[in-house]
Amino acid sequence: MMDINSIKKDFPILKKQINNTPLVYLDNAASTQKPNQVIQSIVESYELYNSNVHRGVHTTSMEATERYELAREKVAKFINAKSNDEIVYVRNTTEALNLVAYAWGLNNIDSTENIVVTELEHHSNLVPWQFVSQKTNCELRIIPTTPEGTLDLSSIDKLITESTKIVSIVHVSNLTGTINPIDEIIKKAKSVGAKVCIDAAQSVPHMPVDVQQIDCDFLAFSGHKMLAPPGIGILYGKTEILEKLEPFLRGGEMVKEVTYSSATWNDIPTKFEAGTPNFIDPIGLGVAIDYLSNIGMENVRQHEKDLIKYALDRLTEIPGLEIIGPTNPEMRGGVATFSMNDIHPHDIGTILDQRGIAIRTGHHCGMPYHKKLGLSATSRASFYLYNDYNDIDKLVDGMNDVINYFK
Ligand SMILES: Cc1ncc(COP(=O)(O)O)c(C=O)c1O
Repeated sequence: MMDINSIKKDFPILKKQINNTPLVYLDNAASTQKPNQVIQSIVESYELYNSNVHRGVHTTSMEATERYELAREKVAKFINAKSNDEIVYVRNTTEALNLVAYAWGLNNIDSTENIVVTELEHHSNLVPWQFVSQKTNCELRIIPTTPEGTLDLSSIDKLITESTKIVSIVHVSNLTGTINPIDEIIKKAKSVGAKVCIDAAQSVPHMPVDVQQIDCDFLAFSGHKMLAPPGIGILYGKTEILEKLEPFLRGGEMVKEVTYSSATWNDIPTKFEAGTPNFIDPIGLGVAIDYLSNIGMENVRQHEKDLIKYALDRLTEIPGLEIIGPTNPEMRGGVATFSMNDIHPHDIGTILDQRGIAIRTGHHCGMPYHKKLGLSATSRASFYLYNDYNDIDKLVDGMNDVINYFK
């Protein structure tokens, strides 16, 4: 179905050698590598189309604008938004979630109401809501987790209630890999009239996501986690909500009319894109979307499901290694998080790096969840479309070396 060897050839960095061994890149949940097609599109943008967008009547500016808006159309199609206007360019998932928290949260929630998140949130979808809760004096409610690292929905009726204004939840956890049952949670949120915001940083890059089908109000993701450059992220919002929303940042282009004492706002999505935007990286995101669409997101998901199944099977052979998160590959994205008895994750990461294997070690921006587990840090190998079983075998061999080193 997927020819991984030919896919690997598209990624120049995978030819890199570390200590005379080829790079095995298993840190994809943090950021993915870029194929030649994306890299070349950036070069082409600078060589041929470098000019500010939506401002010039000269050819290069108009070409840049056309490419910038074509990329928006590709994003809209990729997640099945109803209209291109529902796609707001931001820097990353973090900025998208802050936009929702500042522009929607601060203006729509009062002290008698509440916000619901989960114990599996990345700091990006927790800290902005803590801020809204502190500013508005509203309650921040947290859906707990089971010991397996899935959401415990047994008390959902007590957590999502008539006084809930927004449910903001992570789709796929970067901490445990858990694919959360967002359909069930969204249904509950809608039944009480709450808005829904989805942190899709680890889902949109890895599986088909259809915003109309899941019926969320907001959805956030980052280009750099899906083959695109690091300067572009997306906030999706339903038209009717974005139209009523206050701007987040104020300044050039986001206005319709300005006097010395007041201003009116431009149409969506421009209302949320104040100042000169990053007009290069969205083009790269559009090319990354073409690349992923050619392979097919169903195929990407199936490939990662096969990889995580193999990784969990092989990693559990290692004495003393404990997998964090669900062991059923159906419930898990391509994220293998683990801890080892007495060996610190930073030591694991350093020894693996000497063998060219790049994993992530630390708290992965999930300090409260690590605290709940009684751990200060874990190790995480995360996969993408260019990884194969051989990469996992190298990880397992590397882990055996780690154990021998500490014997
Ligand atoms: C689930 C999740 N949410 C949010 C983020 C934040 O993404 P960014 O750093 O691109 O804003 C990440 C990044 O790791 C993530 O994994």
